[in-house]
Amino acid sequence: MKILAIESSCDDTAIAIIEDGRKILASKVSSQVEKHKIFGGVVPEVASRNHIETIVPLFNSVFEESKLSFTELDALAVTYGPGLVGSLLVGVNFAKGLSLATGLPLIPVHHLKGHIASLYLSHPDLQPPFLCLVVSGGHTCIIEVINYTSFKIISRTRDDAAGEAFDKIGRRLGLDYPGGVALDKLAEKGNSNSFNLPIPLKENLETYDFSFSGIKTAMINIINNFSQHTVSLPLEDLAASFRENVVKCLVNNFIKSAIKYNYTTLCIAGGVSANSLLRRKLDEECQNRKIKLFKPNLELCGDNAAMIGSQAYYEFLNGNISTLELNAQASVNIENI
Ligand code: KG4
Ligand code: ZN
Repeated sequence: MKILAIESSCDDTAIAIIEDGRKILASKVSSQVEKHKIFGGVVPEVASRNHIETIVPLFNSVFEESKLSFTELDALAVTYGPGLVGSLLVGVNFAKGLSLATGLPLIPVHHLKGHIASLYLSHPDLQPPFLCLVVSGGHTCIIEVINYTSFKIISRTRDDAAGEAFDKIGRRLGLDYPGGVALDKLAEKGNSNSFNLPIPLKENLETYDFSFSGIKTAMINIINNFSQHTVSLPLEDLAASFRENVVKCLVNNFIKSAIKYNYTTLCIAGGVSANSLLRRKLDEECQNRKIKLFKPNLELCGDNAAMIGSQAYYEFLNGNISTLELNAQASVNIENI
């Protein structure tokens, strides 16, 4: 079954064609990073306008890449939430137009379910159940993937998402947007023991939740202190200490919850799953504990439409097909649908 999938939930326009949930026949991502860099973050209206400009050429290019024609498709899929509503609407409306014109079934896909499905594209043998740490710019949560279409949230962040914290501190350190990527690179050259940062919620054994605002505030205080004394910032050491702390929080909670809920197969997904320290530390921890760890291929960590096409296949098998009433939703609980 060949599904054409569309993703436009934030600042990447993406279209892919996926066969039977596991095989990428074409996948194109058009990044808007350069457009948002000058503002230091995503500007929603700029993002929507860019999706409108990019979506048709991108649509044409996946047919060139796959050498397929439109008549060979079996279904259409689109991310309908969560995300920026103005951005989502571009993809949703484009998909609805295609469905209306062709009669092909329209499959609605939850963005985070898509991130989790990036693992099926990276690891042909992987099947649920497993426990997944989803870490992106907008979300940080631990999710039980009970089967392909049934999910249960075990914990989530109480304030910032990990990617958001990386981006905000990256910006304070004067790094290019998105700060997470630049901070990760810089941290490789620094000493992670240079600054003492708090580990929030460490003493609370009852929760597997995350919190990053305290670490962020501690970092901002250190940065302000340097600036007041007009001393140049030790960028590499600051980046390394911050990254070390955030990764420690993610790894500690993830391993703790795997033990509590008896999971021996763990996965990570989302933009921050590209973080080199997070990948290394989880590899080490899981090897020591004889836990199987699956990570998405690097090119599938960030937003893309291949992951949406993969999840769409399993949604279709489960009978989840939308009418043309489909609308964009800024927030959608992954457990409800
Ligand atoms: O999943 P994603 O592409 O978009 C959302 O759904 O949010 O995630 C984007 C986030 C950004 O905050 C970006 O800074 C972060 O992922 N990110 C990283 C790395 N690569 C991307 N954060 C830390 N280290 C990285 N290597
Ligand atoms: Zn995402």
